[in-house]
Amino acid sequence: MSVNAFQVQQLSQLLKLDLSAYHSQQLQRLVTAFMQRNGFGNLDELILALRQKAELRQRLLDSLGINVTQFFRDPKMWEILAKEILPNLLRHFKSLRVWSAGCSIGKEPYSIAAVLHELDPDGKHSIIATDIDETALQHAQRAEYWANDLNEIPSDYRPLFKIQNGSLVVPSSLKGMVRFQKLNLLSDPYPQDIHLLVCRNLLIYFRPEVKPPIFHGFAQSLVEGGVLFLGASEVLLNPWSYGFKPLQFGFYLKT
Ligand SMILES: C[S@@+](CC[C@H](N)C(=O)[O-])C[C@H]1O[C@@H](n2cnc3c(N)ncnc32)[C@H](O)[C@@H]1O
Repeated sequence: MSVNAFQVQQLSQLLKLDLSAYHSQQLQRLVTAFMQRNGFGNLDELILALRQKAELRQRLLDSLGINVTQFFRDPKMWEILAKEILPNLLRHFKSLRVWSAGCSIGKEPYSIAAVLHELDPDGKHSIIATDIDETALQHAQRAEYWANDLNEIPSDYRPLFKIQNGSLVVPSSLKGMVRFQKLNLLSDPYPQDIHLLVCRNLLIYFRPEVKPPIFHGFAQSLVEGGVLFLGASEVLLNPWSYGFKPLQFGFYLKT
């Protein structure tokens, strides 16, 4: 099966996501697998059903892996963030402005809030957390998760979170540090004067040709001495051409 440009446009409208920037082969593979699992014979049939069923749209979004997230995803990288990158940033800048770009349901920005809270409990730091998906942002603002998700959080940080009525709840001390905002990385202006820019497991879905303008935009968002934090399977090719210097695996310094 192949997904033509018109169908990509229809799917984009239905899922409220700009799929034209996505790797088309990967998209085709994932949509085909979804159709097979759910008994759809062709893509037009699926599109018709998607128009009628919000629950099917959510399941397709989930199976595209687009919203997958975890607290402290790739814990070793978060250890580097907590032990090296953030202490260094805190030495150079007093109040940090952090941007979590593609924050999904909020686990990433709340992980950052937890680390900052532990490192500098009296500090005045702010986290702007953005995503294109309004449903994900609504969940992020509720700040409630499955109780089992506590297992994703390293033991040092667990006492910061609460279990209430069978849910994992982010306390107001961490919630208050984060401001959520809808932002499409492909078309909206980016926040400025950022000290730490966290964009993880989002750019892997994008076609190579859409990435350079995003990295240029990231470089402009960051102050000199600021740091870009990418996902475990993402590499910035030619970092120097954007004004970045590789620090550790996944971390780049804005020069
Ligand atoms: C796989 S999740 C990653 C979440 C989190 N950063 C992490 O690593 O756990 C990717 C997120 O990127 C968002 N996203 C996809 N396309 C986007 C775009 N064009 N602009 C902004 N966010 C986008 C999706 O809605 C999703 O929440």
